[in-house]
Amino acid sequence: MKSKLIILGAVAALAFVAVGSAQAAGSAGLKRVKQVMVAPPAAPKHTNKAVGGPVIVEVAFSIEEKERQLDANTWVQAMTFNDSNPGPMIVVHENDYVELTLSNPASNSLEHNIDLHAVTGALGGAGLTKVAPGESKTIRFKATKVGTFVYHCAPGGAMIPFHVVSGMNGVIMVLPRDGLKDGKGNSLSYDTVWYFGEQDWYVPQDADGNYKRYDDAMDGMADMQAVMTGLIPTHVSIGGKSFAYTGDNALKGKVGETVLMVHAQANRDSRPHLIGGHGEYVWERGSFNTAPTTDIETWFIAGGSAGAALYTFKQPGLYVYLSHNLIEAIMKGCASHVVIEGKWNDDLLTQVGGPTKADTKH
Ligand code: CU
Repeated sequence: MKSKLIILGAVAALAFVAVGSAQAAGSAGLKRVKQVMVAPPAAPKHTNKAVGGPVIVEVAFSIEEKERQLDANTWVQAMTFNDSNPGPMIVVHENDYVELTLSNPASNSLEHNIDLHAVTGALGGAGLTKVAPGESKTIRFKATKVGTFVYHCAPGGAMIPFHVVSGMNGVIMVLPRDGLKDGKGNSLSYDTVWYFGEQDWYVPQDADGNYKRYDDAMDGMADMQAVMTGLIPTHVSIGGKSFAYTGDNALKGKVGETVLMVHAQANRDSRPHLIGGHGEYVWERGSFNTAPTTDIETWFIAGGSAGAALYTFKQPGLYVYLSHNLIEAIMKGCASHVVIEGKWNDDLLTQVGGPTKADTKH
């Protein structure tokens, strides 16, 4: 453990030195746009294809250290970007610049930063954004890679997994300037983005099996690390708490609507599946420079990445979007409801028999 910490420290020092020889930015004189951050599962307002040339997109994140409720009997001392888990999605186009301000309010007690997988250099920005309580730092980076990318806090050593599984992660989506393509040169568009941020939680239990509550994050850290090293989460959420997008909070749409479903998991593998639908175009590893896979049932999100799947709804009714590790989906909270309105198509599916007495002869 100690040698790993030393290596991380050395890498951080190198990253810092490299900044001294920074070249003049190509962002000079570009138009500035403030991105209005929105809470998941929504994505900020954007166009599929870029309008005009590259811009500087200003993004502001404030870090929250505060207790959150996962389900009726479980609370965690969470750490989040902008008080949401997952953190808000950032959306830009290729070759835009992102000017990201990370603020750590004085009311917090820990040091934080941000490593964005879309960033080149300085540990993904982590080496330049370390903020103590009461501090704020701003970085500017060029979005040169297109796709969906995870971002997360990475303050060093054992604090990295601790902060990530306490809620500090999200997605930046970098769209090609001429929009998404099907791999054969044809454009693909969407009406809506649904942003599914999956989170594994490791909540300690007392001798009676009750989930423990703590006064602050550090108070529960040792107990939580003991659960974390077992690698079996107690809860797996989409949207910051168990079954967040179900019942009244179900996602809603209409027949004929095309949705880009972005799924992120900053720490472990996942298997998104839409019960009743398909992944018609899937950028499983997140890169929009790679042709999408078509018409698949379940796609794979490698831990530490985000991927995207496009689907046009064809039938009304209830769908379930979940991780098709069904134990995690049904017993640990990793399932969402989708309710679609519209006219039923009997040609695609209809019930042609029953109910009758079950035929038991074969
Ligand atoms: Cu942090």
